[in-house]
Amino acid sequence: MKKQQENKNIIILASGNGSNFEAIVNHIRQENLPITVEMLVTNNPEAFAIIRAERLGIPFKIIDSRKFRSRSEYNRALDEFLSLIEFDLMVLAGYMMILPAFIVRKYWRRIVNIHPSLLPAFPGLHAIEKAFEYGVKVTGVTVHFVDEGVDTGPIISQECVKIDKNDTLKTLEEKIHRVEHKIYIEAIKKVLF
Ligand code: GAR
Repeated sequence: MKKQQENKNIIILASGNGSNFEAIVNHIRQENLPITVEMLVTNNPEAFAIIRAERLGIPFKIIDSRKFRSRSEYNRALDEFLSLIEFDLMVLAGYMMILPAFIVRKYWRRIVNIHPSLLPAFPGLHAIEKAFEYGVKVTGVTVHFVDEGVDTGPIISQECVKIDKNDTLKTLEEKIHRVEHKIYIEAIKKVLF
């Protein structure tokens, strides 16, 4: 008899569009996975991810980073909030703030991030654009554990995306996002089970 998998709780942090957040929730529902998305946490009150959370019926928390006097004050508030929730994995999905070392260490190997390039190439902001402008023939997507660096940390999974001569930045972005929406949930499953 197949052993029943224990339910796992995740939280998702996003700052913007939230398409990865929605893709994760949809995969969990469609595949009936034993994963509960406890909450969406965002630093941006204008994030479209909030509209998605409302539509999907996922609780959300806004901790507006612009309302704090400093980044460290914001991070303290985030830390306080996180300590109120029980979760197995923190999933960064377009969370455009750098987590401070004390939070990373507190949840060591329980934080994952997705990045739209084949790390270690093109870390940081605008990775798709940078790869496109550089003229690389192959780029891709990386899911990795978060450590104290920016887009560093052990790699969990990667998938290549070819840049064809007819690609524009827009078509490349679409290709990258399609891959992201497919591989993030697979990486999350790999880490959780
Ligand atoms: C995604 O492409 C993700 O890889 C990237 O932000 C986008 C968020 O899209 N993250 C980074 O660049 C992190 N360094 P989404 O809000 O539609 O999920």
